[in-house]
Amino acid sequence: MNPVIEELELAEPYIGGLLASLGLGVQYLRAEGNSLFYRDSAGSEVSVLDMVGGYGSTIIGHNNPEIVAYAKSLFDQRIPIHAQLSEHPIANEVAQKVNRIIQREFETSDAYSAVFANSGAEAFEIAIKHAEFDRLMKVAGLAEEIGTNVESARSAVSAGAGILVDEAHARLSADAGLSGDAGVDEVISGITRVNGERMAAAPVFLAPEGSFHGKLVGSVQFTHNADFRTPFTSLAVQCRFVPMNDPDALAKIIEAERRTLFDLVVEGGTVRVVERDLPTIGAFALEPVQGEAGIRPFDRETALRIQQACAAVDCPIIVDEIQSGMGRTGAFFASSHIGLQGDYYTLAKSLGGGITKTAMTLVRNTRYRKEFELVHSSTFAKDGFSTLVAGRTLDLLEAEDGEVYRLAAERGSRLLEMLNSLRDEFTTVIKDVRGKGLMIGLEFHDQSDSASAAIAGYAGAGLFGYVLSGYLLRLHAIRMFPTASAANTLRLEPSVYLTDAEISRLESGLRSLLVLLRDEDGSGLLPAEPAE
Ligand code: F0G
Repeated sequence: MNPVIEELELAEPYIGGLLASLGLGVQYLRAEGNSLFYRDSAGSEVSVLDMVGGYGSTIIGHNNPEIVAYAKSLFDQRIPIHAQLSEHPIANEVAQKVNRIIQREFETSDAYSAVFANSGAEAFEIAIKHAEFDRLMKVAGLAEEIGTNVESARSAVSAGAGILVDEAHARLSADAGLSGDAGVDEVISGITRVNGERMAAAPVFLAPEGSFHGKLVGSVQFTHNADFRTPFTSLAVQCRFVPMNDPDALAKIIEAERRTLFDLVVEGGTVRVVERDLPTIGAFALEPVQGEAGIRPFDRETALRIQQACAAVDCPIIVDEIQSGMGRTGAFFASSHIGLQGDYYTLAKSLGGGITKTAMTLVRNTRYRKEFELVHSSTFAKDGFSTLVAGRTLDLLEAEDGEVYRLAAERGSRLLEMLNSLRDEFTTVIKDVRGKGLMIGLEFHDQSDSASAAIAGYAGAGLFGYVLSGYLLRLHAIRMFPTASAANTLRLEPSVYLTDAEISRLESGLRSLLVLLRDEDGSGLLPAEPAE
C-alpha cells in the first residue's frame, strides 16, 4: 500500500529525527527580542532564552519592533517588491550608507560598488566570481600587450635586429622546447603556446585553515571542514588553506604560486625575451573572526602580514563579514578592529534586520568591473522589500552615534566576564572562553574519556556540543548550539538587547550543566527514554 502523504516526514526528514533524539525537536511559534516561545505538552507557553540568534542574524533581536512596524508600513503602502531592471535609488542609498560606514571605520576615502544577493553563500560567490572576472580581464589586457609587442619584435627582426640569448631566453627555450638557433617565428610561436597554456590554468584561491564561507558549490570549496567540502571538489575551483599560526606560510604559498608570461621587447636594435607576472591568485578570503571554526578572531599583526603578502602580488582580499559584521563585535566591521581593509566585503545575516534574507557584496571601485553587471544577476536580489528593510536596519545600527555598537561591546564584556568566572570555577570542564563583542565561543575540554559512558560516547561521535544543547533546552529553556566545525564549542550570538537578568539566567543554566560534567554524571544529560 502507498504511504499516506500526511504521515510522511518529507522536509529534510533525517535532521528532524536527529534533533528529536537529542531533545532539540521543538517547534517555535513566536519570537521576540532574545526569546523564542513554544508550547509544552500541557499547552503552556515556554519562553526560551535564545543565544543562537539565527546564527547571528538577529543582532537587533527577533521581530525588532521598529523593523516590524516599518515592514508593516511597507506592505500597507503596497511598495513594489519586484521591479527588476528599473531605477533603484533605494539600493543606491543602502550602498551609500555602507560606504559611509567603511569610510569612517577604516579612515579611508575609497568607495565600494555594491552587488546585491539573497544569502551569505551567494554574496561570497559573487565576490569570488567578480575576482575571477577581474583577473581574467587583467590577463586579457596582458595578452593583448604581449601580442602587440611580439609583432613589433617580428618587424624589428625583419629589419635586421638580432635576438638576445640570455637567461630569460633560455627559460623560454626550455619551457617551449625550442632549439638553440630558433628563429623569431619559432620563438613567437613558442611564446604563444606557453603563454596560452599558462593563461588557461585555473586560478588559485587562498583562505586560512578553519574558514567557512558557505555551502553552495563554489563557496563550499572555501569551507575548510572536509566533511562539507570534499564530496564536492569535482564541481568547482579549489581553495588552498593557509595555516595562519605559521607567520611565513601565506607569503611562501603566494611565492610558490607565482607564474609568468613570456614577452618580447625591442631595445636598441636587439630583441629580448622578458617575463611578466601573470595574476594567478584569484583572491585571499577570510573571516576577521572565524565563526564556524569556533569563534577565533584574527589579530592586528596577522592582518598586517596578510595585507603585505597580498599587496606584493596585487592579490585582492575578500573580508567575509557575514557573521562578524553589522555591529556584532562592537563596530560595524569586525575587520576594522584589526585595521584590515578589504578589497571586497560580504554582508548578510543581520543586514536583513532579522526579518529578510538579504546580502550584499562590496567591491572596491579601483577593482570594480562594471561589465560584471552584464554577466551576473538574480531574480530576488535587490528586491524592494529587503532593500528597504536593510536601509532601515543600517539606520538603526547607526542611530544615536552607534549605540548598538556600544551595546554589543558592553553586553559582550559582561557576558565574557560571567563566562570567564565560570571557567575559573570549572577549569576541568571549560577549556577556553573567547570572542569579541557578542560573538563568543565557550569551548569545553574533550570528554571522550569521561567516566560516564554516555558522555564519552557522544563526545567520541562528535555530538558532544549538541548533547549540551539538548540539556540546556530541556532543563533550562536555553537555546545554544555548537558550531558545525567545532563540536566542543558552544557559540553565543545574542542580540544587543540582552539583559542582566538574561545573563544571570544563562549563568545558572550553564552552572548546573558544568556541575554534571565536572562530576561526570551522564545520566542527567540526556533525555529520558520514552516509556514503553
Ligand atoms: N560566511 C560566513 C562567515 C558564515 O558564517 C556563513 C554562514 C556564510 C558565509 C554562509 O551564509 O548560510 O547565508 O549562505 N554561517 C552559518 C553559521 C551557517 O552557522 O554561522 P549563508
